[in-house]
Amino acid sequence: MQWITQNIVHLLDPESAHEVSKKLQYLLPLPLLGKKCHFDSDRLKTYLAETSLSNPIGLAGGFDKNAELVPLLDNVGFGFLELGSVTAEPCLGQPKPRIFRLKKDKALINRMGLPNKGADVVSEHLRNLRPSPKTPWGVNISKTPDFAKTSSRTAIQDYLYSLEKLYPVAEYICVNLSCPNTKDSKTFEEPKLFEELAKQLNEFRKSRINYKPILIKLSPNLDAKPLKQTVELALKYNIDGFVVSNTTTEKNNLITPQKDLKAIGAGGLSGKPLLEAANKQLKRVYDITEGKSLLIGVGGVMDFESLLQKICYGAQLVQVYTGFVYNGLFFVHNLAKKLDQFCINQGLSHYSEMIGRQEFLRLKSV
Ligand code: FNR
Repeated sequence: MQWITQNIVHLLDPESAHEVSKKLQYLLPLPLLGKKCHFDSDRLKTYLAETSLSNPIGLAGGFDKNAELVPLLDNVGFGFLELGSVTAEPCLGQPKPRIFRLKKDKALINRMGLPNKGADVVSEHLRNLRPSPKTPWGVNISKTPDFAKTSSRTAIQDYLYSLEKLYPVAEYICVNLSCPNTKDSKTFEEPKLFEELAKQLNEFRKSRINYKPILIKLSPNLDAKPLKQTVELALKYNIDGFVVSNTTTEKNNLITPQKDLKAIGAGGLSGKPLLEAANKQLKRVYDITEGKSLLIGVGGVMDFESLLQKICYGAQLVQVYTGFVYNGLFFVHNLAKKLDQFCINQGLSHYSEMIGRQEFLRLKSV
């Protein structure tokens, strides 16, 4: 199975690989795969608010926008999945090609433009998922891009429409702030724009009987000052946590030649070269929140060392995207096994004893 995903699926362009996987998942012996990929250890069991997770490693937003790969993803060892981004209106996204592999850099560049079937369709699909997946999921919501078919809703109403639809069918909601929300490319990470959104998110949740965490997803490109303002506003309006970070627009120090990057054009960079910037942003958010908020660390987790960095810089949970694309179906299982072994070697009874404790990074890993 690993051979098929690594050698056949990787020969295709990334979007065709995704389409093939959608069909292939029904040909795979999923229960057997699930058995092989599941890793059971009390040292890794954790919670996202009140939802129990078998381990802290989740799938990052954007991989399964319409929740079409859930049968497969439910059997590859993830502790949780973040589905979406889903937008209020269906969206075709940018013209193809829009994902590019930078193999030498172990990275991806994408300018997907949030293609998805929209909040109505995805919420209905999640409500009807059978058999019931074992892996808990959250849903990532974004604002419908300006180039898509848009209605007369304002940007905030657009988010609230998706929230209304998807809140009942998810364990948590992640609000992706870092996509441009206006024609001048401003995002909701602009503190002034964000305050009204945060207020409305808080009001929405107060109106619900079921409390579910609402997290916000941040860009690694936000400077220290607006980052602090945004995080402080989020705390003021009871946002439960932060997903740090999204892809970066910075493309310095890559092995891929400049001429190839130029040919690819615009897009967000993910994978190995993102690690440093994403970690820097994670550390900043950990400091601002004084370690009291739920932090999900994402960006550049390609191996055990980078996973450990996320935890030691303050992440309670970690997500992967590009690492999963490059390393295949057993990636999460292998990470979980190594994390467990590291805990054993350090005499720890639970991985969470390392959260925010950078001294563990100096120790020899497994
Ligand atoms: C993404 N990412 C993303 N994030 C998000 O909030 N909504 C989305 O729709 C998408 N879409 C998307 C598509 C593609 C092709 C990629 C590579 C990434 C960002 C993703 O969730 C994650 O934050 C970054 O990719 C960094 O993590 P990795 O890939 O370095 O593990």
